[in-house]
Formats: sequence, C-alpha cells, structure tokens
Amino acid sequence: MTATEAWTGRYQGSVMNTFGPPQTVLVRGEGAHVWDADGRRYLDLLAGIAVNALGHGHPAIVQAVTRQLTTLGHTSNFFATEPQIELAEKLVELVGHDARVFFTNSGTEANEAAFKITRRTGRTRIVVAEGAFHGRTMGALALTSKQAYRAPFEPLPGDVTWVPYGDAAALTAAVDDTVAAVLLEPIQGEAGVVVPPDGYLRHARELTTTHGALLWLDEVQTGVGRTGDWFAHGPSGVVPDLVTLAKGLGGGIPIGACLALGDAATLLQPGNHGTTFGGNAVATAAALAVIATIESDDLLAHVVTIGDQLRRGLDDHPLVAETTGRGLLVGVVLHQPLAAEAQKAALAAGLIINNATPDRLRLAPPLILSEDEAAEAVATLRSVLDEVSA
Ligand SMILES: Cc1ncc(COP(=O)(O)O)c(C=O)c1O
Repeated sequence: MTATEAWTGRYQGSVMNTFGPPQTVLVRGEGAHVWDADGRRYLDLLAGIAVNALGHGHPAIVQAVTRQLTTLGHTSNFFATEPQIELAEKLVELVGHDARVFFTNSGTEANEAAFKITRRTGRTRIVVAEGAFHGRTMGALALTSKQAYRAPFEPLPGDVTWVPYGDAAALTAAVDDTVAAVLLEPIQGEAGVVVPPDGYLRHARELTTTHGALLWLDEVQTGVGRTGDWFAHGPSGVVPDLVTLAKGLGGGIPIGACLALGDAATLLQPGNHGTTFGGNAVATAAALAVIATIESDDLLAHVVTIGDQLRRGLDDHPLVAETTGRGLLVGVVLHQPLAAEAQKAALAAGLIINNATPDRLRLAPPLILSEDEAAEAVATLRSVLDEVSA
C-alpha cells in the first residue's frame, strides 16, 4: 500500500464524506507546485480553488502570519486590532469609494452578511442569476442555483427570483420597486468561467438605481487581482452597493469580507450581525501581505500576461471550442463533455485543474505562475486533451 492509499483510508475512516474521495493527499507546497504523500510533484493550476494567490509557502505570508501570531493572535471583536483596521482601510481604498467592511472567515459568510444587509432595506426579494454559486450556508444556498445542492435542504429562505445570466432584457423584466437587491458574479466561476456580455453590469446598476434596489456583486472568486484588476467589476466603471470577497484575499489563510458602499454601509446596526473569528488579527495580517505583494510585484499586469499566454496556448486545440475568462480565471470550453476525463488525465500527468462542468475546465492558478510554468502547463494540458479525445 502506498502512503497516499494509507492516508486516504484514514481520511475515509475519520472525515465526513461530503466531498467524495480526495484526488490525492498533499503534504507540501512551494510556489506553484505541490507534492503528494508518495513524493509526486504537481503543477497547481487551481491554487486551492482560486485561493493561494501567492502560491504555496510565500515568504511574505509566512512572515506576516508569524510576526502577527507572535505579537498578538486572536482577540474577539470586543477589541479592535491594528491589522484589522489597516486591512479595512486598504479595501476601502481599493474599492475606490466611501465604504465600510464586515470581516468573515469565508465566502459564504461574506454573502450571509450581505444577505442580512439587504433585509435591512425593508424589502426581501433578491434577483439572482441562473448558474450562480454563492455558498453552502442556508442563506447563501438559497441564492445558489444548482438543484443538487439545494434540494436536500429545502425549504430555503425564499423570495428569490432567477434570471438567465447575462440577459439584460430578463433582468429588466425581473427588477421592480419590490426588489431588495440584484446579486451577480461579475464572471460566474463555479459555472465554468462564464463572462457576461459587455454592458451587463452597467445595465444592472442602472436598473437597481432606478428601482431603489442594491447592486450586490459577489467577487469571492473574481476579486483581489484574479482577473488582472483588484475587482473584476473595476473595468466596467460600475459602483456597486455591496461587494463580497474571500478566497484569494488571505492567500490561503481563511478570511472573507463584505464591503458596503455609500448608504448601504449603515444598514447593519450594532447587534445586527457578528462573528467570533471574523477579522482575526492573523488573518487580516495575511491579507495585508497578499495585497502588498500584489502591489510590490506588479502582479495585476503579470496576471493579464500569463492569462493571455494560457488562453493563446489552448485556443487552437481541436477539442477546445473556446477559452473564456479574464486574467488568471480561465475557462476552457470543450466540444465534448470530456472535462472529468481531462481532469483525471491531467492529475496523472502532474497537473491540477478543475472540471467545473461536464464540458468546461477551469484554471485558477496562483497569480505568481511564471511564464515557464505557464508554458509547461499548456504543453501538458494539450497532450492531455489529445489523450482524452483520441
Ligand atoms: C462566487 C462565489 N461565492 C461564494 C463562494 C463560497 O465561498 P466559500 O467556499 O469560501 O464559502 C464561492 C466558492 O466557490 C464562490 O465561487
């Protein structure tokens, strides 16, 4: 029995079976690579599902976490800490408008906070897009479209109206003066990196403004540099009311955030919401290190260059219908539903990728992926696509 098989057996005997069997058991990571319990090396094109923005074991995060933990670790929200305040100020600066931040530990919790903010408008109806993924807690699940995730837990919080993603006319028809918020991912991640038509977010902003509803953008997957901008909605020029973040923000240390802009910032009042761990000093110190490194290493520009390299390298493969996304959130749409086979073959070839849907692969590598690593990824993935289409 290999070490990986032994660990997998122990996993299955002790960890609740919510994810199915693990693909392998990882023991170490460095930069864009990870190693399994048998010493096999993988190029990580998924980064913990768009989380490890600086890759594995980045010294900036290691030093920030170590320094903070040896200075002051957890305090509870009865007290404020310096890194928490500095991170909130930094996020407000990056979003570019007057805002206030509520810190959480995950994306689903960031969305729970935003959901509660929408209820304080006095309205309850939320307009959400088909294909959306906003998390697994009961509130966020109510706003997540996949039936297989929802059905076992119904009834979920109600008053949700579903519209086809990217369809401006459908959005117009759905939004009226009874709507509390329109909730959208600027690019749908779990749906397989689906990009809406130009002008869609602007249209959503105009409609919500006209009808006194909030525009809530879920940037849990797309935020913090993943698309080559601090926020994927940035290039649209749209100013949302709510923005939710998590994943890449902590570079692997769990943290999420709900940003409320303008008047939305005061909808939650003392006592309306809380969390023991949210805004923890160690997690906020890690996030500050992530943001500082993205700035100092000019990673936003790098993300665009490497994302284009990956897309260009895959676009003309005969099995590829199109590549989608922006920056280092890359969708690879296949002509046939071979994504699961491709993911397995890629793993066997030492490449970690994700089969988001039966015919869509998703790549969300560390933002530090080098040109050479991207070239290696393209070469391996092309031979994997040859293999599964043969
Ligand atoms: C857009 C989006 N929102 C929310 C979530 C939920 O985040 P978490 O898994 O941290 O709860 C995800 C996770 O994939 C996501 O992609």
